[in-house]
Amino acid sequence: MTFPKRAGIVGVGSAVPDRVLTNSDLEKMVDTSDEWIRTMTGIVERRIASKGEATSDFAVKAGRSAIEKAGLRAEDIDLIILATFTGDTPLPATACIVQNALGCPNTPAFDLAAGCSGFVYGLAAADAFVRSGMYDHVLVIGADMLSCVTNWTDRTTCVLFGDGAGAAVVAPVGEDSGFLAFDLGCDGSAAQSLWIPAGGSRHPYTPEDLAAHRDKIVMEGREVFKFAVKIQGEATERVLGRCGLTTADIDMVIPHQANIRIIESAVNRLGLPPEKFFVNLHKYGNTSAASIPIALDEAVSEGKIKKGDTVVTVGFGAGLTWAAGVMKWAF
Ligand code: ACO
Repeated sequence: MTFPKRAGIVGVGSAVPDRVLTNSDLEKMVDTSDEWIRTMTGIVERRIASKGEATSDFAVKAGRSAIEKAGLRAEDIDLIILATFTGDTPLPATACIVQNALGCPNTPAFDLAAGCSGFVYGLAAADAFVRSGMYDHVLVIGADMLSCVTNWTDRTTCVLFGDGAGAAVVAPVGEDSGFLAFDLGCDGSAAQSLWIPAGGSRHPYTPEDLAAHRDKIVMEGREVFKFAVKIQGEATERVLGRCGLTTADIDMVIPHQANIRIIESAVNRLGLPPEKFFVNLHKYGNTSAASIPIALDEAVSEGKIKKGDTVVTVGFGAGLTWAAGVMKWAF
C-alpha cells in the first residue's frame, strides 16, 4: 500500500438541463420582477430539468466528462461520492444509479448530504481516502435538482434555484500541487432555517403537508444570508491560515453561487479584486451541491485557472453547513 503525500483534482466536468427559465418567465408565475431578482440576487436565468429527467441523468453526464478529461476510463474509478439532497428516489443512494450508468462494476458508491456545502465535503473525503492509500481515483459529483423541491408559489425561494451537476476526479498528484487544507463545519442549532419540514422519519407526509407545500424547501432567507456573509469570509481566512497562506496568495476563488451580494461581501472582506471571484450565478441560479463544481469546470474551460494556481472553493448551505478548501491546481 502506498501513501501519497498529496491528492488533487485531475479532471472536472459539468452538465445542466437544456431548458431555460428566465426572470421574465417567473414574472408570469409569482408576484416578482426581473429588476428585483437581478438587484437582490444577481440571477438572470436558471436551468430547469424537463419532465422525465432526474438528478442522476446530470450527475452521470458530469461524471463521464470529468473522467474523460482526466484521461481515465470508468473502470479506473475506485469510489464514487455523490453530494446531493435531491436523489432520484429515497432508496437506494443515487450514487448507485450513477455507478451503474457510468459502467464502474462493483465500485463502492455513496451519497453525501451536506446541502450546498456537499461538493467540498466530498473533496475533503476524497482527499483523505486517496492520501490514506485506500483508493487511487475518487469521483466526486455534486448534483441537485432543486426544481423538484421548490415551492413554485413562494416568491421568496422559487426565484433562487436551478438544476445541474458538476464533477471532479481526485487522484494522487505531485508534492507541489493538490489539496493543502480544508475547513469543514456545521451549526446544527440553525437546522430549521433552511429545511424541508415534511417527508422524513420525524414527520411523514400527510395530505395537509402536501397541500401546504411542506414537502418543499422552507427558508428564512435573511438568517441564511447573515450566516453566509459571516462564514464565507471566516472559513476562507481559516483555511488559508491552516496552510500558512494569506489572501494575497489567492489566484481564484470559486464561491458557492447563491447570491451576488453574498459574493460581493466576501470580495470586500477579503480585500481582493472582484475578478478573482468566479461568478456564473446569473446563468444558473443556486444549484446547491452542483454550484461549485459547475463553476470550477467553467473557470477551467475559460482558462481562468491554470497549473500551479492557488484556488479556494468555499460553500455554505443547509445544516447550516460550511466548507472551504484550498488547493494548488494540478493541471
Ligand atoms: N420578488 C419581489 N419581492 C420579493 C421577492 C421576490 N421574488 N422575494 C421577497 N420579496 C420581498 C419581500 O416580501 C420583502 O418585502 P417587504 O419588505 O414588503 O416585506 C422584501 O422583498 C425584502 O425581502 P427580504 O427577504 O427581507 O430580502 P433579503 O434582502 O433578505 O433578500 C434573499 C432575499 C435574496 C432570499 C436573501 O435573503 C438571500 O439570498 N438569502 C440567502 C439564501 C441562500 O443563499 N441560500 C443558500 C442556501 S440554499 C440551499 O442550501 C439549498
